[in-house]
Amino acid sequence: MVGRRSAPSVAYFLVTHALFFLLACRLSASQQARNYTFVHDARTAPEISYYDYIIVGGGTAGCPLAATLSQNATVLVLERGGSPYGDPNITYLANFGAPLADASPSSPSQRFISEDGVINARARVLGGGSCLNAGFYSRAEADYIRDVGWNSELAKQSYEWVEKKVAFQPPMKQWQSAVRDGLIDAGVLPNNGFTYDHMYGTKVGGSIFDTAGHRHTAADLLDYANPDGLTVLLKATAHKVLFHTRGTQEGKARPTAHAVVFRDSTGAKHRAYLNSGAHNEIIISAGSLGSPQLLILSGVGPVDQLKAHNITVVLDQPMVGQLMSDNPMNAVFVPSPVPVEVSLIEVVGITHFGSYIEAASGANFGSFPDNDYGLFSPKIGQLSTLPPKQRTPEALERAIYNMSKLDRAAFRGGFILEKIMGPISTGHLELTSKNPNVNPSVTFNYFKHPEDLARCVQGMSTIERVIGSKPFSKFRYDTLSVPQLLNMTATAPVNLLPRHSNSSVSLEQFCKDTVMTIWHYHGGCQVGAVVDRDYKVIGVDALRVIDGSTFNASPGTNPQATVMMLGRYMGVTMLTKRLASA
Ligand SMILES: Cc1cc2nc3c(=O)[nH]c(=O)nc-3n(C[C@H](O)[C@H](O)[C@H](O)COP(=O)(O)OP(=O)(O)OC[C@H]3O[C@@H](n4cnc5c(N)ncnc54)[C@H](O)[C@@H]3O)c2cc1C
Ligand SMILES: *[C@@H]1O[C@H](CO)[C@@H](O)[C@H](O)[C@H]1NC(C)=O
Ligand SMILES: *[C@@H]1O[C@H](CO)[C@@H](O)[C@H](O)[C@H]1NC(C)=O
Ligand SMILES: *[C@@H]1O[C@H](CO)[C@@H](O)[C@H](O)[C@H]1NC(C)=O
Ligand SMILES: *[C@@H]1O[C@H](CO)[C@@H](O)[C@H](O)[C@H]1NC(C)=O
Ligand SMILES: *[C@@H]1O[C@H](CO)[C@@H](O)[C@H](O)[C@H]1NC(C)=O
Ligand SMILES: *[C@@H]1O[C@H](CO)[C@@H](O)[C@H](O)[C@H]1NC(C)=O
Ligand SMILES: *[C@@H]1O[C@H](CO)[C@@H](O)[C@H](O)[C@H]1NC(C)=O
Repeated sequence: MVGRRSAPSVAYFLVTHALFFLLACRLSASQQARNYTFVHDARTAPEISYYDYIIVGGGTAGCPLAATLSQNATVLVLERGGSPYGDPNITYLANFGAPLADASPSSPSQRFISEDGVINARARVLGGGSCLNAGFYSRAEADYIRDVGWNSELAKQSYEWVEKKVAFQPPMKQWQSAVRDGLIDAGVLPNNGFTYDHMYGTKVGGSIFDTAGHRHTAADLLDYANPDGLTVLLKATAHKVLFHTRGTQEGKARPTAHAVVFRDSTGAKHRAYLNSGAHNEIIISAGSLGSPQLLILSGVGPVDQLKAHNITVVLDQPMVGQLMSDNPMNAVFVPSPVPVEVSLIEVVGITHFGSYIEAASGANFGSFPDNDYGLFSPKIGQLSTLPPKQRTPEALERAIYNMSKLDRAAFRGGFILEKIMGPISTGHLELTSKNPNVNPSVTFNYFKHPEDLARCVQGMSTIERVIGSKPFSKFRYDTLSVPQLLNMTATAPVNLLPRHSNSSVSLEQFCKDTVMTIWHYHGGCQVGAVVDRDYKVIGVDALRVIDGSTFNASPGTNPQATVMMLGRYMGVTMLTKRLASA
């Protein structure tokens, strides 16, 4: 048929087992290192030191919190990872897959596989998840802010404080524009244009990547810090929060946090103590895996787990590590007959049925096959061409060689994904070791609740309409039907779950069998269960948890805007209290 484009064979795509795009060119230039005078390697730290606030975790919440508190108090940040500055894998948008593929102990990302069989990643770098993420920046919905009980004016000011430094309007080139128009065509209305706000319909959101594709992270918020009030230690792994029992409350001894034991990269032990003073506190901002893990290591957790690991019980708190959730992500890779831009998330369709639709694309294979660490890469955890259990060095070499023989067109295209709100399904975390560097075991129970599954099915069927829409037609092969596209994904090793023969004919089965993570996992120290509404750990004094582990649900379409906002918000709130009684 004249004008009908033919696709490379389906089998050909299946060999690629690909859902994502390859990286663009390997950029050798590195952004100039930011020389914050207050950032040091932990090896240079004294054995004993004293501060007004000690923050464990220099991540997405920890950095804005520290920058704010340093204005009127002395602050120590303990971050187990290194600096993001000067690392091209973090700085450049096109290198998105590189840190996720890097499984070395010095990698800014630490892989974990949930008991569900889904490959996942957690941050290990100053700036935390904002150094690894896909950059999409979008505020929480007004209802979320109201339900949590945040002051909406302070929340707004805190978002703006963050946005001034790290949020940008994305470039919106051809492929992303086609997805946006496809969403509108599929009825995800109205078209809300560019906005950080959460509104029903289709919108262009913000990004922490600037128009040159350079990442701006939560670590950049340390620009706001008072350099005289702040010390940030890198490669400083907290092992334990220490408590003493000071005074009694209603006749019961009440543990009070007063120090953190941490180790530097040589293994040497240090202790940071709180200065005496009623407002001085330790704040755990170690993320959804790290925060409950450190509480348990410190003796605050389910007594069975404490006993099993011979940890002295400070407080039997059965909810630590409970109510963990990960929003399931399901995606379809759509090969394109024409070149597409390299993009991460720029557009979102916010539906009325609780499903958020987003997309990413890739095109430029500049130094392929040299460039072998993309998300298609056999080396990477998720979205890989080689199932994780088979990833021996020899198998990797063979798979990389095989990939290098494929036509680059096989990797050209993009994927359209949906994430569900909430989710309702919850799981839990358990300590596997007393070593804080070892991942705890985590179970998320994806789609355990039928409503979560229904949201995925509705989201997937909207994606089918986007793919089939007129505005998107340029970026798909006429010869590849939507069911064939689904089947390509359903036969790809995107996770460790078994597949069923009906995976590509039933959307329900497709959702369950091809579930991935969008890395928005949260909970473990939920408000109302482990911390109170002021983020104070229930049952002990001088200890808070401030980060994504406190969320009951993922805020907005993507959480980072609200995680950073929360760091600023709580910094302002805590300082206001401190100064009022000074
Ligand atoms: C690959 C990926 C893509 C994503 N895409 C997006 C996106 O496009 N948009 C979006 O909004 N969100 C996205 N997210 C999610 C978002 O980045 C996270 O929700 C957010 O960064 C979590 O922030 P946090 O402060 O809770 O934890 P983190 O940012 O992870 O901070 C925790 C910090 O604590 C440190 N730490 C942990 N334990 C210890 C210890 N014992 N001692 C010392 N330090 C410790 C860690 O090294 C880390 O730096 C993505 C995440 C990932 C991983
Ligand atoms: C590093 O610090 C010096 C002065 O201390 C300053 O002049 C210079 O601009 C800084 N460089 C960067 C990249 O911040
Ligand atoms: C708090 O810090 C700000 C900014 O550094 C300063 O202007 C103010 O005087 C400080 N207030 C107190 C009470 O220390
Ligand atoms: C970047 O990522 C690649 C692939 O994972 C890895 O081999 C390389 O060492 C990383 N570079 C840096 C500077 O960490
Ligand atoms: C706990 O202590 C007991 C007795 O000292 C010992 O037998 C056991 O192996 C320890 N368990 C762990 C997990 O360390
Ligand atoms: C590489 O390709 C060969 C020949 O097509 C195939 O037999 C083999 O399984 C492939 N190996 C990997 C690791 O993909
Ligand atoms: C999906 O693809 C596999 C492998 O090519 C094939 O055996 C199967 O029949 C396909 N299923 C559907 C429903 O198209
Ligand atoms: C798909 O098939 C499996 C058996 O292979 C069955 O258990 C499951 O219920 C089916 N799923 C749907 C949604 O029909």
